[in-house]
Amino acid sequence: MADTIVIEGGKPLRGRIEVRGAKNLATKAMVAALLGDTPSLLQDVPDISDVTIVTRMLNAYGVAVSSPAEGELLLDPVNVARTHFDTIDALAGSSRVPILFCGPLLHRLGEALIPDLGGCRIGDRPIDFHMDALRAFGAIVDKSYEGIRITAPNGLHGANIELPFPSVGATEQVLLTAVRAQGVTELKNAAIEPEIMDLIAVLQKMGAIIWTEANRTIFIEGVDQLSGYTHRAISDRNEAASWAAAALVTQGDIFVGGAKQQDLLTFLNVFRKVGGAFEVHEDGIRFWHPGGPLKPVQVETDVHPGFMTDWQQPLIVALTQAEGVSIVHETVYENRFGFTDALHQMGADIVVHKDGLESVTRRVPRRKLEQAAVITGPTPLHGAEVEVPDLRGGFSYLIAALAADGVSRVTNLGPIARGYEHFVEKLEALGADFTLEA
Ligand code: UD1
Repeated sequence: MADTIVIEGGKPLRGRIEVRGAKNLATKAMVAALLGDTPSLLQDVPDISDVTIVTRMLNAYGVAVSSPAEGELLLDPVNVARTHFDTIDALAGSSRVPILFCGPLLHRLGEALIPDLGGCRIGDRPIDFHMDALRAFGAIVDKSYEGIRITAPNGLHGANIELPFPSVGATEQVLLTAVRAQGVTELKNAAIEPEIMDLIAVLQKMGAIIWTEANRTIFIEGVDQLSGYTHRAISDRNEAASWAAAALVTQGDIFVGGAKQQDLLTFLNVFRKVGGAFEVHEDGIRFWHPGGPLKPVQVETDVHPGFMTDWQQPLIVALTQAEGVSIVHETVYENRFGFTDALHQMGADIVVHKDGLESVTRRVPRRKLEQAAVITGPTPLHGAEVEVPDLRGGFSYLIAALAADGVSRVTNLGPIARGYEHFVEKLEALGADFTLEA
């Protein structure tokens, strides 16, 4: 894949593109296949590098992964076998998904190995909720210089777990472990993102017994045996929101095939308040800039059903064109505004408050780690040379470059390919003006 894209900005994106299965479900459903004693078939799998990483990890554990048709993965876990620390370490890259192998591997092999995820490769994202949950199930967690070795000499039993924060990954960890543990697990303060509900649907197809109650509580009654599933992944709402922002930023008109209103309600409200127009169809959503000035907004990222943290980066590019002062409070991650430095270089007026910002119009701050970005617009954007820092920040650079006057070079495209399927082909289909460099 090309490493650099050279974009001539100033041309509206127009046309139709499709989004497929969600990255944040597909990779987890692939791990769930380890729990079955027969093969699973996952449909609508996006062609992204995170899926490739998980495929290689499953291969390392003896799971045969093939593609019977475009967008389909057949995952056969019949010959699951142990592997070595260095094999996993070499494969995992910066992915967080290896942690989710723990529960299934403990059930299948009695042992799980996690490479040293505490290092810089995943920034500051800790795994304490995951390890505490595994210990509650009866697992023993040993840290060595190579990484973490988890065993369950006395098997795994149901547990009462309350997460300190409704973490998506930790909720998935509990689900993937509790389904085969002995007895009932009660999980309080669980994440309830649509991708988690879809993972629950996958597990139920496999034979699991899971029910949800009010106030973020999930119950899982362990069963002795699970079989394979056939499942079509929920569509990628984060990719859909990204292309919606691209339509607004470039003053374009994009039909996002496969986008689902139900999973985007909160995003659509903000999109409308900023001044974007959309139309919900049976097979997708059309997003466009209706002309006239964009309006500033105040947004707070949150766990579902709030405004997702992955939506703020492309939105911020649109807010640089709104007339007035917008504020985005980030409450999920401690450092997710680093990407704004490059937007600044392109002419945006964005001030990041690293310790958050008091504001009369928002709810009581919930977490200590929050920060705020104050965006004053409209500011014309001009071309620049920028390097992609991460997945969502990277996409926001692409759309900023598409809206900017002049030529931009966006380097290090790899992180974008982790989660945006065929984004170069999609840009082409939407009429973007660009060339690629190796
Ligand atoms: C998932 C999504 C990511 C999304 C995020 C929040 C995938 C592959 N990624 O990431 O796109 O932005 O949910 O919706 O599905 N935390 C701890 N200790 C832990 C685990 C998490 O302190 O053991 C903290 C994190 O540092 C972060 C917060 O909890 O501040 C939320 O993280 P989490 O929901 O776990 O995100 P991921 O599952 O990694």
